[in-house]
Amino acid sequence: MSKEKVTVKTFLRMKKSQEKIAVLTAYDFFTARIMDKIGIDCILVGDSVNMVFYGAKTTLSIGMEQMIYHTQAVSSACERAMIVGDMPFLSYQTSEAEAIRNAGRFLKEGGAQGVKIEGGTEMIRIVEGVVQAGIPVMGHIGLTPQSIHKFGSFSVQGKDQKNKDYLIKSAQALEDAGCFSIVLEAIPSDLAKTISQSLKIPTIGIGAGKFCDGQVLVVNDILGLFEDFKPKFVRRYANLGEEIQKACQKYLEDVKSGEFPSEEESY
Ligand code: KIV
Repeated sequence: MSKEKVTVKTFLRMKKSQEKIAVLTAYDFFTARIMDKIGIDCILVGDSVNMVFYGAKTTLSIGMEQMIYHTQAVSSACERAMIVGDMPFLSYQTSEAEAIRNAGRFLKEGGAQGVKIEGGTEMIRIVEGVVQAGIPVMGHIGLTPQSIHKFGSFSVQGKDQKNKDYLIKSAQALEDAGCFSIVLEAIPSDLAKTISQSLKIPTIGIGAGKFCDGQVLVVNDILGLFEDFKPKFVRRYANLGEEIQKACQKYLEDVKSGEFPSEEESY
């Protein structure tokens, strides 16, 4: 693994050389430092923090201040990984000027090297404005969680021809608008393959199959720290929820029984 900082150029180089891009979400210093050390290429400070950290039912209610706060914690832990801040609902949809101002805050205050914006063809004007301001943009199409109330549920997208055409057109338009990569969320893997093969920029899949140029998952999902529901595409690499419960349970018992603290743990 090269120790060099991952940048938008690294993303393009990895696409060309067909090296898969490994992305994870993180929201705090400690977790981000571990990911940076082991060589995770890019850390997304996702607005999923609203669900997995703050316990909300959707990503909609998180604001700029909280997103900047978590981005600062993550970026101060990382030397190599590229940090991408997720633009929260209503921080970019309202106008190009507001989008540029808020995207800029992720770089100026958060220490990120790019931002992620949800949406396809309807968001091109905004994406172009942000890119032209010198801010790298990661696009995001398919199941875009900020539009949950438009979709009605967290369901697979790109199943009918009309939606497939929209996603293919959106991916090309996002590349033309200057995005350095695009997240493809919850779409059939053959559609993700078509999109990935048609673009010069890398696609980062989440529930989009193995033909994407990279993969992203939510860290709490892979660690077994979010148990409200488990989408089909999540692979659980640990059961930390259970481990935390066991440890806290043992502590509780030890305090109640007087077994903690011992002589060695006392002054
Ligand atoms: O907020 C998030 O974590 C995301 C990823 C799941 C792509 O948008």
